[in-house]
Amino acid sequence: MTQNGSHQMPPDSIRPTSTTSDTLEIVEARLDQNHHELITLADHAITNDGHCIGFLPHGAYHDATTNNRLFSLFRNDDRVGFILWSSNELRECRILQIWIRRDARLIEHGRALVEHLEEAHARRLHAWQLRAWVAEDLEANLFWPQIGFTKKGWRWGPAKRARRHNLWVRPITYLVAPQRPVPSLESPTPRVLETA
Ligand SMILES: CC(C)(COP(=O)(O)OP(=O)(O)OC[C@H]1O[C@@H](n2cnc3c(N)ncnc32)[C@H](O)[C@@H]1OP(=O)(O)O)[C@@H](O)C(=O)NCCC(=O)NCCS
Repeated sequence: MTQNGSHQMPPDSIRPTSTTSDTLEIVEARLDQNHHELITLADHAITNDGHCIGFLPHGAYHDATTNNRLFSLFRNDDRVGFILWSSNELRECRILQIWIRRDARLIEHGRALVEHLEEAHARRLHAWQLRAWVAEDLEANLFWPQIGFTKKGWRWGPAKRARRHNLWVRPITYLVAPQRPVPSLESPTPRVLETA
């Protein structure tokens, strides 16, 4: 999938800047010519790191593909990781899963995925912040502050696991938080617990 290679490049794939002669490329799942490889990688991620990224059914990846909420990162044509995200009514981009292959960690791949999310999606949606819930015992809590996120609070995870989860957020500069809608006194709506 490189410009010089024999594969055809998807029309709106984006190349983040690479600090080496290697090539980094983001491919949106809906344009992914080898989508089955992405699903296989997600299976592998869940099998090996499900306690970090959570467990999602296959349908979630297919829905995220259709809704343009899933993309992969390639290094020299090698698929090294992916991110699955969503947005909410408060114009926040929520990182639901981010995963990098073990042999490809600590060389800025995670950062490249998050930067693409902000540049290609969050700004287009006029989102004002990125956010992620992260179980307190994970090494990933060392990743988020290094890429500009700050910890805003915590909550308990599902009772079965009883782990605290930290909320990490990164504002998107120049945009401000929207006003929360004022609840109507005449027809109060039940309070719904927020998910990541
Ligand atoms: C968390 C994860 C996505 C990070 O991806 P990565 O490609 O290894 O991270 P990067 O190389 O882009 O790291 C960016 C910065 O975070 C730091 N960092 C990342 N992981 C770290 C760790 N485990 N310990 C200390 N620092 C870490 C890097 O040193 C780098 O800092 P620097 O720019 O100051 O040098 C990856 O470790 C992973 O997939 N983990 C398993 C799944 C998981 O936990 N997902 C997150 C659940 S919320």
